[in-house]
Amino acid sequence: MFKIENLSVKYPDGTLAVDNFTMNISSGEHIALAGGNGAGKTTLILALAGIIESDGKVIVDNIELNKKNISEIRKKVGVVFQNPDDQLFMANIYEDIAFGPRNLGIDEETIRHRVDDRLKLLNIEHLKYKTALKLSGGEKRMAAIATVLAMKPSVMLLDEPTAFLDPKSRRNLINILKKLPHSMLIATHDLTFANEVCENTVILKYGKIFSQGKSSEILYDNDLMNRGNLEAIENDYNKTTKQ
Ligand SMILES: Nc1ncnc2c1ncn2[C@@H]1O[C@H](COP(=O)(O)OP(=O)(O)OP(=O)(O)O)[C@@H](O)[C@H]1O
Ligand SMILES: [Mg+2]
Repeated sequence: MFKIENLSVKYPDGTLAVDNFTMNISSGEHIALAGGNGAGKTTLILALAGIIESDGKVIVDNIELNKKNISEIRKKVGVVFQNPDDQLFMANIYEDIAFGPRNLGIDEETIRHRVDDRLKLLNIEHLKYKTALKLSGGEKRMAAIATVLAMKPSVMLLDEPTAFLDPKSRRNLINILKKLPHSMLIATHDLTFANEVCENTVILKYGKIFSQGKSSEILYDNDLMNRGNLEAIENDYNKTTKQ
């Protein structure tokens, strides 16, 4: 269980980017985080992973995030950054995926199996000995997800995971994320993706929860989405009422 209570983030220049955010994510639940540009999605994700400072409570598997147990929390909360270049920096993808488990002191034999397993799961076995510098945007995204999965996190936070993906890679990612048993909070502007992968959606506006509920309902609600600085997914009903 992942609990977020009254979380706020104020940047040094005074911007209140996340304002009193409270939410629970049950084990295995996938929640989409929608909201216009500047709504606070990325800030929330960085705060939940303890990468930037926040006020309020974050509790992962009964452990409360604080300065003392930050390394414990980082093992449990995996972040897939908006830009995959932020998490691929070793000589090749094998080494990138092995990096986290190696830091935990896991033996090389176990690491080898774990890396192979994650490469297979994400259909990127052919990238094993390539360097991230020579990969396409979509390939980098998959490799970044593999590095996070290798840490066996209990919660995954993903920031715009479908950015740079072509339709086929996007479909591949949808199929993979749907199957993964991890709790997930996924910031995205790709609302049809959100609808397929996440049963529930939270809409952020000015750092606050503006609305939340079933993705299949709120993402199609023209009026609600417009008020949330978003645009509803097109459907037959929306098409007729727009004309
Ligand atoms: N380092 C910073 N210092 C000051 N303000 C910041 C900083 N980073 C972000 N902000 C502000 O915080 C607010 C939230 O930004 P954030 O990047 O979290 O939004 P977002 O919802 O992820 O947007 P996008 O959809 O464009 O990715 C914005 O008003 C932004 O200008
Ligand atoms: Mg963002």
